[in-house]
Amino acid sequence: MKKFILMILAMTGLTLVFSQPSPLQPIPSDDAPELALLMGDLQRLTHKLALSAEAGNAELAAFYLHESQEQLRKIQTEAPEYENLPVALLIDRLAHPAYEPMQSAVTAKDAKLMREGVQAIVQACNACHTATQHAFIRITPGTEVNPFNQSFQP
Ligand code: HEC
Repeated sequence: MKKFILMILAMTGLTLVFSQPSPLQPIPSDDAPELALLMGDLQRLTHKLALSAEAGNAELAAFYLHESQEQLRKIQTEAPEYENLPVALLIDRLAHPAYEPMQSAVTAKDAKLMREGVQAIVQACNACHTATQHAFIRITPGTEVNPFNQSFQP
């Protein structure tokens, strides 16, 4: 009996040790919106735009084109400057104009022009990464594999 009680006590002790709340994680500051997170969303939209263009799906490409441009505007509002770099200005100069060929391509529903449109956009992403000392972040169309549980076929 004594052994049994000791065992129960030991087990309760172990449970207590393992159920201690984990040490507090630092809370990210709210002042600076995380540019990397906003970029991550833009990356996902760009990837889906590329997969839609690759599949020749103009309707879906038009949707992701619009969402990408919205995301760029969101970045301009929420993170106009990043470590003294004029992000909003660079987006106006480098990014927005690069979406124009894609706009014409989805309007014309032309698969070849859509693929070229994606190239122009991806080049703009990388041009801005270079301009902001992040040339090591290299974006590609990434159309070899569809990693999403979503069909991009028209
Ligand atoms: C203003 C210029 C600029 C443009 C245009 C731009 N980026 Fe970025 N991007 C940055 C900067 C600066 C960072 C680094 C942010 C940081 O260090 O927090 C970054 C970081 C990233 C990251 C790393 C974050 C992650 O989730 O892995 C990805 C991915 C990315 N950008 C994708 C893109 C894509 C895709 C495009 C084009 C559709 C694009 N970026 C256009 C400046 C830009």
